Parts: sequence; structure tokens; C-alpha cells
Amino acid sequence: MATVTFDKATRIYPGGDKPAVDGLDIEVGDGEFLVLVGPSGCGKSTSLRMLAGLEDVNAGAIRIGERDVTHLPPKDRDIAMVFQNYALYPHMTVADNMGFALKIAGVNKAEIRKRVEEAAKILDLSDYLARKPKALSGGQRQRVAMGRAIVREPQVFLMDEPLSNLDAKLRVQTRTQIASLQRRLGVTTVYVTHDQVEAMTMGDRVAVLKDGLLQQVDSPRNMYDKPANLFVAGFIGSPAMNLIEVPIVDGGVKFGNALVNVERDAVQAAADKGDRTVTVGVRPEHFDIVTGDSDSKSLSKDAPAGLAVTVNVVEELGADGYVYGSAKVDGEEKDIVIRVGGRAIPEKGSVLHVVPRGGETHVFATSSGERLSD
Ligand SMILES: Nc1ncnc2c1ncn2[C@@H]1O[C@H](COP(=O)(O)OP(=O)(O)O)[C@@H](O)[C@H]1O
Ligand SMILES: [Mg+2]
Repeated sequence: MATVTFDKATRIYPGGDKPAVDGLDIEVGDGEFLVLVGPSGCGKSTSLRMLAGLEDVNAGAIRIGERDVTHLPPKDRDIAMVFQNYALYPHMTVADNMGFALKIAGVNKAEIRKRVEEAAKILDLSDYLARKPKALSGGQRQRVAMGRAIVREPQVFLMDEPLSNLDAKLRVQTRTQIASLQRRLGVTTVYVTHDQVEAMTMGDRVAVLKDGLLQQVDSPRNMYDKPANLFVAGFIGSPAMNLIEVPIVDGGVKFGNALVNVERDAVQAAADKGDRTVTVGVRPEHFDIVTGDSDSKSLSKDAPAGLAVTVNVVEELGADGYVYGSAKVDGEEKDIVIRVGGRAIPEKGSVLHVVPRGGETHVFATSSGERLSD
């Protein structure tokens, strides 16, 4: 087992004017499950392929443990990769597919058989070893691809969207299986996906990339609680965090008819930079619905406190529901999404008064996008 280090690793494709991956700096711990996530084209596969040795590194270095592997061929890196399309050999049995890399490496037959059978047992494939890939379901093929990686007993597993060919239900099952398998084997793993739910549920830590640049690398909990900038705030969480530009007023920010207590220091930091607004982030699950005029935070005696949100569309999911509404903030109509309880779904066209829950607001600089609040 080993650590993995991306040390300012950069990839510029021939003819490209800007790097596909730009100075990537990540240290993956021994036995850690690290997920690289970001929108299509952000450089996830390129990062993984640099680690695999399938792509040149134009600047910086890559290390596995203490070894500098930056210019080593793939076969000398002691890694095993699982691809999106599995790349199984159609004319070979499951057993031969799983053992193929060992055969090429000159491992003796008895040892190959032993490792393949062990992996098959772990992956629930023992009854299928004599079959050809075409006689397997999508989920079984995926497990064969995993098996092929496991039998090699590598220092590092690399996986590039290994679940994207499975249907939604199987994808959810399989992600749990892969995560628990990785924990059992304890092999350092770098896993690529564009799906933030997959990233959040599987990773010990998550690294968010955008346009070849690392935005944040953190535990799933910290990603959710303290997104480092507006991009991460909008990318992690579903439905996405509401991000609303609001004017700075004395002591805080004005959110409709309510003063929202965001961190004073954060607002001051924005004001010091000359910003007249900040961007406040509130997740759909962090609004409280207020009724009547009982709320003392109201700025006006007549209107209830909070932001008046007109309900445009309601999505009922049973356990809960999402209100897609609009509200006037600083004279402009803004879209806003609010999670409500499954037994308290408001009527379309009605008006809700909402306030962000204390301690659950995020403040970002409108100008730079950087997080200002703690
Ligand atoms: N072989 C290549 N030649 C030139 N550009 C490439 C090549 N592969 C990928 N790119 C470009 O590099 C960027 C990152 O691609 P990629 O790493 O595949 O992104 P992701 O896996 O996050 O979708 C994209 O802009 C893509 O078009
Ligand atoms: Mg990719």
C-alpha cells in the first residue's frame, strides 16, 4: 500500500493553449478513498491518466509512496485501473479475463487460479468463472472489471466512472459495494466521477475540479458545511444551494423583510474590499417557514418577517417536497428552492415567508466568489 502525491502536476495537450490540468496538488493518504469530481471536461480523466502513466506530465511530479513515477511506464507503477467501458476481452472467460494481467506478468497457473477464485468469492462471481462476458448482466461485467483489478493486488486502484454504464438502481447498490470492498482491502484508491452524490457517499475525501483547477479537497462533511467558493457551493448538494446577491446593510445583510444575521466579520471583509453586496448561500433544506407576525426580526410591523416566496412549482417526493418559487430581493425577482416536509406541501401560487436557519448561511464575496464566512 502507498500514498499518492500529485505535486503541481500539469498536463497541456499538444496544440492546447491552456492546461487540461493545471498545477494539481493533492496528497492521498495510505488506504484512503479519494474522489475526483467535477463537470465534464474539467480534467478528471486527464488527472487519473497522468497517475496511471497513460498521459505525459508536462510540469510537476507524481509520486506513489516515496517513488517518483512521473516518467515511469504504466506497467512499472504497481497500479490497477478500472475503466468506464470495463474493456473485457469478449472471447475470454470471466476467469481468463480476471487472470490475464497475471498471466502476462508470468505468474504461475496455480497462483493465478488461487487469486482469481479469491477475488471471485469476494465479488460473488464464483458461479460465473466459465462464462463469456456477453452472458453476464451489466452489474456482473462491472464486477469482473473490479476483479481484474483486485487480483493484481496493486498499491493503488484507479477508477474512471466505473458505474456510469449501470442503471440508476444498480449504480446505487454497486457504489456501496465498491466503497465497502475498498475499505476491506484497504488499497489506496483514486476514483473519478461527475456525480456529486457518488463523490459525497463514497469518498473519505472529495477533490472538486473546475477547468483543470483544484477548487477544494476536503471531507464530504466539510464540503457540505464549508464550501470554499461559489462554484463548490453550487456543485455540491442537490437541489443546489440558493445563491443570492444581497446588499450589505448595518450589521448584516437584508434578506427581503428580514435582517439575516450572517457573520459580521464576513460582511466587513466584503465591505473592506469595496463590495456593496455579498452573495449569501442557503441550502434548500435550511429555510424555516415563518407564519403571522410573531417573528421579532421583522423590519416592518405589517408584514411577516422573512422573504416572501411565491410558489411556482412543487415537487412532491413523499418524504419531503421541493418548492420552486420566486422572491423579490433588492428589487429583483430571484429563483429560490425550498425543501418542505412531505405533510406540509404548500399550494401552487401561495406565498411562503421564509428565513434562513441560524448558523446555516454561507457568505461569499460576490466579486471573487471566495468564501468569507467561517
Ligand atoms: N487527447 C486529448 N487531446 C486534446 N485535448 C484533450 C484530450 N483529452 C482531453 N482533452 C481535453 O482536456 C480537457 C479535460 O478533459 P478530461 O480530462 O477528459 O475531462 P473529464 O474527464 O473531467 O471530463 C477537456 O477540455 C478535453 O477536451
Ligand atoms: Mg472523463
